Amino acid sequence: MTQQEIVLNKPDDMHLHLRDGDMLSAVVEHSARDFARAIVMPNLVPPVTTVEDATRYRQRILDALGSGTSFEPLMTLYLTESTTAGDLEKAAASNIVKAVKLYPAGATTNSDSGVRDIAKSYHLFEKMAELDLPLLVHGEVTDDDIDIFDREAVFIDRVLDPIRRTIPELRIVMEHVTTKDGVDYVGSAGNNLFATLTTHHLMLNRNAMLVGGIRPHYYCLPILKREEHRQALRAAATSGDARFFLGTDSAPHTTYTKENACGCAGVFSAANSLGCLATVFEEEQALENLNAFTSVNGAKFYGLDINDAKMRLVRTSEPAVFPQHFKVGAETVTVFDPGKPIYWHVDHAASL
Ligand code: DOR
Ligand code: ZN
Repeated sequence: MTQQEIVLNKPDDMHLHLRDGDMLSAVVEHSARDFARAIVMPNLVPPVTTVEDATRYRQRILDALGSGTSFEPLMTLYLTESTTAGDLEKAAASNIVKAVKLYPAGATTNSDSGVRDIAKSYHLFEKMAELDLPLLVHGEVTDDDIDIFDREAVFIDRVLDPIRRTIPELRIVMEHVTTKDGVDYVGSAGNNLFATLTTHHLMLNRNAMLVGGIRPHYYCLPILKREEHRQALRAAATSGDARFFLGTDSAPHTTYTKENACGCAGVFSAANSLGCLATVFEEEQALENLNAFTSVNGAKFYGLDINDAKMRLVRTSEPAVFPQHFKVGAETVTVFDPGKPIYWHVDHAASL
């Protein structure tokens, strides 16, 4: 018989873009509804590079939430070529900053302040290992001669593997892993390498973005890959392996800047990720591993307690209806379209 409901510990989103200002005010409630905590990415303009920046940004997030919500933003610092060992020491001592994010310069939205010459950051990686401050990597090279679909595999060979060989104690998360190469690399590593997986990469391959017309709302970075990669991601996510956990990479841009001659990269999935994920896990006959992926593995990685609060997901005979857009000032943000009916949704009325 088809399973009709599942109760989870309240999930955590271990990779989230909340932005700032009006956009922050518009998006944060979507995350707060379905997630207890989130690892908040630091790619603002200017980036969040110090504990002081992170403390102020955290307060702006809490202010945007208002009272009566228990959502907890977990902050990250943006690694630049000006980051110092002192910045890292303060971060590790802060209780606010949970990790440091490496963006190769030019890899994605607001990555211009990122690292150009990785060799210059090795002393900082050593410091982070000493402080047990995890390194979160956007795992793509940006070299002109590397095809965009190969960026992740080349990053593993040229950047990630050398870091891990030199500083094996450093705890690293390969953020939004999108290839079989990434999954296999994480799977073959010891216990210091982890990976987040997004909702959209588990649901879609590159055909969804490119066949029958170009669909800019599916454009994200790392870019969607071919089906064999999606299958590898699904196997990893649904396996229960503690090294893989949810990071939606929900990244709002206005509909106008997405539907554009030079459209921005990012998928806004915070509002409907959980129904989509239950669908993926059901299809893979692994609903019993959904809680590990959404609510346990990430918390353990960050040394956090698993949330006591519970969430009930229910399966209905009619597809769930999600809003397609929501307003941000005079603009809108377009919500992730999973491209198929979703029968699972969060029962927000349940008191558990
Ligand atoms: O698609 C993406 N959008 N990938 C990223 O790495 C950044 C994000 C954003 O901030 O818009
Ligand atoms: Zn991201």
